[in-house]
Amino acid sequence: MARLEVTEIFCGINFPGHLHTQESLHSAQYFGFQNNDIVIATYPKSGTTWMQEILTLIYSKGDDLLAKTIPNWERAPWLEQIYLRDIQRDGGGPRFLTTHLQYDILKPALKNSQAKVIYVTRNPKDVAVSFYHFHKIAKFLPDPGTFEEFLTTFLEGTVHYGSWFDHVKGWLGHKDELKLLCVSYENMKKDLRGAIKGLCKFLGCPMYPKELEDIERHCDFSTMSKSSMANYTTVPPEILDQNQGKFMRKGIVGDWKEHFTSEQTTRFDEIFKKEMQGVRHLCLEWDQE
Ligand code: A3P
Repeated sequence: MARLEVTEIFCGINFPGHLHTQESLHSAQYFGFQNNDIVIATYPKSGTTWMQEILTLIYSKGDDLLAKTIPNWERAPWLEQIYLRDIQRDGGGPRFLTTHLQYDILKPALKNSQAKVIYVTRNPKDVAVSFYHFHKIAKFLPDPGTFEEFLTTFLEGTVHYGSWFDHVKGWLGHKDELKLLCVSYENMKKDLRGAIKGLCKFLGCPMYPKELEDIERHCDFSTMSKSSMANYTTVPPEILDQNQGKFMRKGIVGDWKEHFTSEQTTRFDEIFKKEMQGVRHLCLEWDQE
């Protein structure tokens, strides 16, 4: 299914028609969660693939066989995408699911379940930069125009997948109603071992130091970016043109400083302040400098 030019509008949010239909989005809204499901919820470009890899390795106790042989989107499929039904596995352990949907859309399905949610946050300035570059290679997303043009739509919340602000406020604002652990991209960069330990505790998966070491080594950017089961190089260039830029682009904190003008920084900060008024206590940890 190509549908590269198609946009599906669902609950007022644009989604790429290459990966979504009204039916797939509707099914996600009424998804039958099981109590031992583990859901990775992210705004795009916040570290989704990284978390999919970490989760795989935690449950394999550091053995990288699955991570090296099965693509990330099969190991932890997006529950709103058309491929979910084809690739969902009925294995022994818990199901891993990924979603970019806003909390409000999944609320009816998640509300009464005991599923564990891992919410990954990232400095929205770095998200905007990463998303901009991703738009340039993803043929199923609109042409982003210049960075200035893209940033305007990002701040308005009219980009595909909707507003970053609504996404973060929706999920983290309801964290007390869910079994939710918030993990930040920046903390994973600063202390991956500590972040993995926190995840193991949340998931109830005790880990030996040697296993932790194996997970950490495998999930390092330099290793992961070479893995064809995580770097999307198996996707044809008509869909993801990695000749124009890589999916595993830089994997660093603070790349926004190379992209934002001082005017854009001021505008961003003003909108951020207004949007996040009263909710700064949510798990948002990054260096503002
Ligand atoms: P950059 O474009 O800033 O490099 P997502 O998986 O949510 O789409 O996010 C993709 C972003 O996460 C990209 O950011 C990618 O390089 C980064 N990423 C993926 N794996 C990573 C890792 N192991 N360490 C650090 N960053 C990683």
